[in-house]
Amino acid sequence: MKHVKQVKLYVANRNENCTECNFCKNFVCPSLEECIGCGACYLACPNEAVEMKEREVERHIRIKVDGETFSVPDKITVKKALEIVGYEFSKFPERGKIFAPCEVGGCWSCAVEVDGELKPSCVTPIRDGMRIETHVESYKEPKRLVHGFSGHTVGGVGTPWWLKGYGYIEAACFACGCNFRCPQCQNWTTTYCGKDLPLTPGIAAELMTKLRRAIGVDRMAISGGECTLNRKWLIQYIQELKKLNPDKEARFHVDTNASILTGDYIDELVNAGMTDIGIDVKGLKLETFQRITGLDSKLAEIYMKTEWNALKYVLDNYSSEVFVGVGIPYNRDLISMGEVREIGERIAEMDDEVQVCVLDYRPEFRSRIKRPTFQEMFEVWKVLHETGLKTVICQTVHGYIGPDGKLSL
Ligand code: FES
Repeated sequence: MKHVKQVKLYVANRNENCTECNFCKNFVCPSLEECIGCGACYLACPNEAVEMKEREVERHIRIKVDGETFSVPDKITVKKALEIVGYEFSKFPERGKIFAPCEVGGCWSCAVEVDGELKPSCVTPIRDGMRIETHVESYKEPKRLVHGFSGHTVGGVGTPWWLKGYGYIEAACFACGCNFRCPQCQNWTTTYCGKDLPLTPGIAAELMTKLRRAIGVDRMAISGGECTLNRKWLIQYIQELKKLNPDKEARFHVDTNASILTGDYIDELVNAGMTDIGIDVKGLKLETFQRITGLDSKLAEIYMKTEWNALKYVLDNYSSEVFVGVGIPYNRDLISMGEVREIGERIAEMDDEVQVCVLDYRPEFRSRIKRPTFQEMFEVWKVLHETGLKTVICQTVHGYIGPDGKLSL
C-alpha cells in the first residue's frame, strides 16, 4: 500500500449571512454534517454565507487508483484523493492533467470511472474500498449536466439581430458549470448547478430536436454556464444534432466565453456542424477581465488571450460559413467607456461587419452594481459605431438599440 502526502482538508460552515435560501441544495452533498469539502456550495452561495474551514483527519480509508492501493483521509472528494496520490488537475486543458474547470459537478470534464461508473471527481465522495480508473478515453459517450430546454424569443450573442421580435426564434439549452467566477454572473443558477440528471450527447440532441419540432424553429442553441468545457461532449452533441436535423435550414449555434477555444477546437466544432457562434469578450485590459470574471491574474491572462485569439481565428477562417456574433459587457463599475472604444477598434480591425452585441450588466448573483441606464447604453452604441463597426446592437432597459441606432422592443 502506498503512502500519501499530508494535505490540508476543509469543511464548509455557514455564517451569519445565510438566509436559508437553500440554493446550496443544488449540490450532491446530503448535508453539511457529511461535508466532503468540495467547495461547491462555497462557490455557489449568492449570499457568501459559506466559509471553508480547515479540519483534522478523522480516519484513513483504502482506495484503489488505476490498480494501485492507497490510504487516504476519509470525507474527501475523489479529486482531492487523486491529488493526494499524485495526479494533477488543471483549469486550462493540458496534456497529462485532468481538466477540472467548474468544480461544482456541472461540466463532468473531470469525470473518472468510480466503481465502474463515470462520475465527476470534483464532487464525488470517496468511500472505503472504492476503485477509481482515471483513463476514461474509451468511454464512448461522455456525460454532463445540461438543462433548461426551452423556446427563446431573443436568442444569444450569436443570433442574427434581424431575427429578434418574431416569436420563438431559437430552441435553447444551457450547460451547467463554468470556469469563470463572475460576481455578477447573469445565469448563476445554471452556472452553479451540480445536481441534475447528467445527459449523454445523444439524449440531449434528441431532447433538442423534439423541442425544435414542438416550437417550429430552425435554430438550436447551446449556452450556459460554459458549454465548451467538456469538449468531447459538445462535439458529439453537435454531430448527433446534425444527424437528427439533416435539413438545410437547421442551424447549430454555440454561445461561449471562448476561454478554452483553441484553433483546433474551433476546427472540430465547424467540422461537427456548428453554423453560428457567439463569443463573449470580457475586456481588453487584464484588470478589467479579472474584475468581470473574478479570476486570479495568471488564469485570467490565459483565458483572455485565448478568447481574443479564438475570435480572430474564427473570423479569419470561417466568416463565410459560420455566423459570428461578439458579446461585450458594459457597466461603468466594471469597464470604462475608453476600454469599450478600444475593444470596438480592435474588433473593427478584424472585421467591421461582424455583429457586436453589448450586454448591459445588471446586479445579479453577488454583485450590487446598478444596471446601466438607457442613456448610458446609447452612449456605448455611439462610441462603438464611431469605431467603424457597422452592426452594433445594445441591450437596454427598454429593449435593444439596433444597428441603425433606433430602439426596438
Ligand atoms: S470540474 Fe468537475 S464537474 Fe466540472
